[in-house]
Amino acid sequence: MIEKPLEQMGLRDLRGIMRQKVPAEAWTHFNGAAETKATFRRNPRAFQQYLFRQKIFHDVTEPDISIELFGHTLPIPAITAPVGSFSLIGKDAEREVAAGTERVGAMMFTSQAAKFDPRGWRGAAKSPLVFMAYMNRGKEEIEEYAKTAEDLGFAAVGITMDTVKPVKIGDEVPLSTKDGKPRKGHKSTPKDIEWMKQMVKLPVVVKGIMGADDARAAVNSGADALVVSNHGGRILDFNRSALEALPEVVEAVGNKVPVLLDSGVRSGGDIVKAMALGAKAILTGRPVAWGVGAFGAPGVERVFNIFAEEMQRVLVMTGVARLGDVSKAILFRDTADGVRAL
Ligand SMILES: Cc1cc2nc3c(=O)[nH]c(=O)nc-3n(C[C@H](O)[C@H](O)[C@H](O)COP(=O)(O)O)c2cc1C
Repeated sequence: MIEKPLEQMGLRDLRGIMRQKVPAEAWTHFNGAAETKATFRRNPRAFQQYLFRQKIFHDVTEPDISIELFGHTLPIPAITAPVGSFSLIGKDAEREVAAGTERVGAMMFTSQAAKFDPRGWRGAAKSPLVFMAYMNRGKEEIEEYAKTAEDLGFAAVGITMDTVKPVKIGDEVPLSTKDGKPRKGHKSTPKDIEWMKQMVKLPVVVKGIMGADDARAAVNSGADALVVSNHGGRILDFNRSALEALPEVVEAVGNKVPVLLDSGVRSGGDIVKAMALGAKAILTGRPVAWGVGAFGAPGVERVFNIFAEEMQRVLVMTGVARLGDVSKAILFRDTADGVRAL
């Protein structure tokens, strides 16, 4: 591989270097998804169905890509996704992810499945943090962690609700395993959202929404934000892509709560497309893993800078001065019957 400075590297470089550097087990785990990986492949492909409307006669030169979320101003609408297993990449990987996210001042969602608890994450990053629970950890630990997160000034708390069946990597049969033991799924109900709402004053985020009915149920139970996500293709093979589910969810909740999206975001252009279709911001999982696996904290910082540089280019080339002005008007849909405006 040709050596080039980090600030000239793209995501593909980081992915290739991560793959060479990390233990094979970590690569298989991070690149893994359920069964045939159809959902995993569909996620990034869905973004390719959209094209931009180029516009050159305007005054936009330095678009503003900051957003407001949960009372914080974020420099970029990209957030580190909750990942329970960064530590497979290396013993300091969680600390490096936190430090890299902090270098940018970006927001980070933290998983209850991680080695760090909320105190560990807070010690590792001054960036705005969100604690994401898994109901199978038991209500006692969730309550303790959520309250600690609130005391430590986290921006929000939430629940990842889509692991009704456990994460599955490839064809692990009959049961998906972790550390040689079968993983367990766990039921989540809208009552869990009500339970978390009365426990803390922070906004409560629900992750794993892929349709209008679940979106409405979550908001009716008090959810303050939703994450449209298919868990990066790790739960259900032949799911829709997250981007394909987004318009339905946005329509169902109107502007009652912010709708975030993850699964398959691989460029700043993808972020602009998601925002044009109604997302407030995106979460990014595997790209952060590539960054940290390749170069630690500076690699994570580079991932966000790549996204920022690409967003700037798209916004200038479509004549959009600020993210509030991103709308469907800048997109076309590339269909079998030809290219059509949205
Ligand atoms: C290795 C790995 C571990 C993950 N662990 C968690 C987790 O503990 N909690 C959670 O809510 N989501 C978890 N996710 C899902 C991510 O938060 C996110 O939804 C997904 O990675 C987004 O897709 P992307 O990787 O294409 O960006 C994990 C994903 C990966 C790849």
